[in-house]
Amino acid sequence: MAEVIYLLNKDTLIVKPPKKSPLVYRMIVLAFSMFCGLYVCSICLKQISRHAKPNLLNIQITEEPCELHCVKQFDKPSIHYPKPKTFSRAECADNPVRYFVIISTQRSGSGWFETLLNSHANVSSNGEIFSIMDRRKNASSILQTLDKVYNLDWFSSASKNECSAAVGFKWMLNQGVMDHHIEIVQYFTRRHVSVIFLFRRNLLRRMVSMLANSFDRYAKLLNGTHKSHVHSPQEAVILSGYKPMINSSSLINGFKEMERTVSEVLTYYDTTRHIVLYYEDLMKNWTKLKEVQEFLNLPTMDLRSRQIKIHSGPLSDHIKNWDDVLKTLNGTSYERFIHTDY
Ligand SMILES: *[C@@H]1O[C@H](CO)[C@@H](O)[C@H](O)[C@H]1NC(C)=O
Ligand SMILES: *[C@@H]1O[C@H](CO)[C@@H](O)[C@H](O)[C@H]1NC(C)=O
Ligand SMILES: *[C@@H]1O[C@H](CO)[C@@H](O)[C@H](O)[C@H]1NC(C)=O
Ligand SMILES: *[C@@H]1O[C@H](CO)[C@@H](O)[C@H](O)[C@H]1NC(C)=O
Ligand SMILES: *[C@@H]1O[C@H](CO)[C@@H](O)[C@H](O)[C@H]1NC(C)=O
Ligand SMILES: *[C@@H]1O[C@H](CO)[C@@H](O)[C@H](O)[C@H]1NC(C)=O
Repeated sequence: MAEVIYLLNKDTLIVKPPKKSPLVYRMIVLAFSMFCGLYVCSICLKQISRHAKPNLLNIQITEEPCELHCVKQFDKPSIHYPKPKTFSRAECADNPVRYFVIISTQRSGSGWFETLLNSHANVSSNGEIFSIMDRRKNASSILQTLDKVYNLDWFSSASKNECSAAVGFKWMLNQGVMDHHIEIVQYFTRRHVSVIFLFRRNLLRRMVSMLANSFDRYAKLLNGTHKSHVHSPQEAVILSGYKPMINSSSLINGFKEMERTVSEVLTYYDTTRHIVLYYEDLMKNWTKLKEVQEFLNLPTMDLRSRQIKIHSGPLSDHIKNWDDVLKTLNGTSYERFIHTDY
């Protein structure tokens, strides 16, 4: 008898645990899957926010469940596979291309910046294409020109053709960027053009460069040739030998006007995907160039330019009526321009 009871007891002991364990097992699976879901989502959110940094105003959150590939979907609209009319992209036909534009002002380092970008094997930045009046006559001539550039059908010494991964050009504020901003922003949004703003903080140095450059347009100091950019220290010395007179009575208003224009263009183009760069920061900090390459999703490379700065050293060496300028700016918010090195 005792044995039977024992067996029965044993039986109940054996039978009971299997009844409990599915529940425990289910709980564990449930907890594990909840943890996994949360983890995957947190990774996704982190990647989206990192990805969207330069693009805060342009985030489009879809209703789709957030899975690991959601980052790629987010990025997709900004890549293109252009089919140029004038040539075949050959072995690079399957490489995605990104569209960009450098929006800047004269004498703000954009020429130098563009040579740096063009030293990248996969960048075609086609220069100041809207310096030609006919191309910016009206909005439709502007958009036609943009189509041609972004379809890779624009030819300049910078075109890399087949294997371009980023194609663009530089565009000065006074070349239609402001006048036709509504149509241009629409175009940039529709075609996912990324905007690189490049400005110069020191407007006094910029003014010296403008005056010297426009003087040289007529004086042609380098053996009868006008040059806006130079490649040797000797040439820089010759060009900086000219010291411009600065009209101090219009100086402050000129700076204010420039600051207004810059803040205006940033407002107009606020909704585009963009970054804002300053010439002085690029000069000081080369990791900024890495940031630019990341912004354009390019493989990172060392970028080089042969250009040499024309007006280096203290500003007092480069302005004829220095005392006058000093007196004008002393005690104003523009006094800082006098002391900085770039
Ligand atoms: C724009 O300018 C071009 C010439 O550059 C001209 O042929 C065209 O008719 C103009 N379009 C409009 C809408 O004014
Ligand atoms: C960059 O260009 C090289 C050839 O010059 C090509 O092999 C490579 O695939 C290109 N990279 C991208 C990302 O397009
Ligand atoms: C100007 O020409 C002279 C002689 O032709 C040459 O030695 C010199 O290097 C040239 N200078 C520049 C800045 O091109
Ligand atoms: C200097 O600027 C003032 C104010 O804008 C202007 O009236 C004057 O004609 C300018 N002088 C020269 C030499 O350009
Ligand atoms: C250089 O630029 C990078 C990227 O913008 C920034 O993180 C870093 O703090 C800068 N370094 C200096 C010394 O300004
Ligand atoms: C600047 O202004 C201060 C008084 O506000 C004066 O003491 C100083 O000498 C001025 N500096 C120059 C270079 O004019």
